[in-house]
Amino acid sequence: MCEPHVYILLAVQPLKGLILSGGKGTRLRPITHTSAKQLVPVANKPVLFYGIEAMAQAGIEEVGIIIAPETGQEIREAAGDGSKFGIEITYVVQDEPLGLAHAVLTAEPFLGESPFVMYLGDNLLQGGISDLVAAFREHEPDALILLTPVPDPENFGVAELAVPDAATPGEPGRVVRLVEKPEKPATDLALVGVYMFTAGIHEAARAIEPSARGELEITDAIQHLVDGGLRVEPHIVRGWWKDTGRLEDMLEANRLILDNLTERVEGELIDSQVDGRVVIEAGARLERTTVRGPAVIGAGAQLCDCYIGPYTAIGENCSISGAEVEHSILLAGCTVSDLDGRMESSLLGRNVTVRRGDRQPRAYRFMVGDNSDISIL
Ligand code: G1P
Repeated sequence: MCEPHVYILLAVQPLKGLILSGGKGTRLRPITHTSAKQLVPVANKPVLFYGIEAMAQAGIEEVGIIIAPETGQEIREAAGDGSKFGIEITYVVQDEPLGLAHAVLTAEPFLGESPFVMYLGDNLLQGGISDLVAAFREHEPDALILLTPVPDPENFGVAELAVPDAATPGEPGRVVRLVEKPEKPATDLALVGVYMFTAGIHEAARAIEPSARGELEITDAIQHLVDGGLRVEPHIVRGWWKDTGRLEDMLEANRLILDNLTERVEGELIDSQVDGRVVIEAGARLERTTVRGPAVIGAGAQLCDCYIGPYTAIGENCSISGAEVEHSILLAGCTVSDLDGRMESSLLGRNVTVRRGDRQPRAYRFMVGDNSDISIL
């Protein structure tokens, strides 16, 4: 006679994603006066999309995006329902930017009891998050944080770790203390804007008080977990990481992403030359122009008598003639004409016009908001 089989089904909560795409982006003004900082393109793709793609690659199917009332609509239009990334996106409005832990609480109805990956929408992390998600699933800590040494730790959340355990060589010591933007940082280990949490973080976020800047800091909520004896696993990031909050970081992120470009020329080249890793999108037209990669030229761009130097991203439908541009980001629809000098390390918002009068050639550096019109006399 057969023994009856008893099957016990355990309800495993799926791992969800939470991308924070609110905030005011004050450090990237004037660009962010008119658009969300998470939509500023790096190598012609909005920063936000790198985070979404990292989630999709790690097998996360349900992603919540925190948006602000001011810029939310623009983000909804850009990312849509998530189908183009193979995921499902739920938008969660955070009425005021009251901190990262406040954002988690705002998303609690979406997150429920699920463990989740939280990703700051203006961060870029080389190599994505698949390995970290695997480690989180395997070790099952209460939280997993990413850390990396930085030259200016006072601008970040900073971690103090215990002396590493001799029994686990190569592993970092346990987390002792986390402080948000300390005046005198105890270490140079900054908290990277990617975190993994179990549902216990909601209670921690409810337990803490606002910081001196009036925000519920995620750093304090994680410290609350540590104080409660919960397991917070630190990971030291080995590849590069960029918080694209400032112009220099944005240009650096553009450089790092372009460094991995795969050459592809689909546009039209007339008496023109491309050297190195260059992408010319379909519909772009280059005449008597040299592009030295790594560089990307967006769809529909028209370039005539130009030199485009390394680490430059030219947005869709830009029109550039008689100009040299290097190590710069031009958003869609810009017009640059007869510069007769080199524009470098610049960020031009959408539909900016820059033209020169009749002075001597020189070098130019710009950070210009959308729809500006500049004549150099
Ligand atoms: C936030 C966090 C900080 C973290 C940083 C990473 O800072 O509060 O702990 O180190 O992101 O980008 P914010 O840039 O929001 O001031």
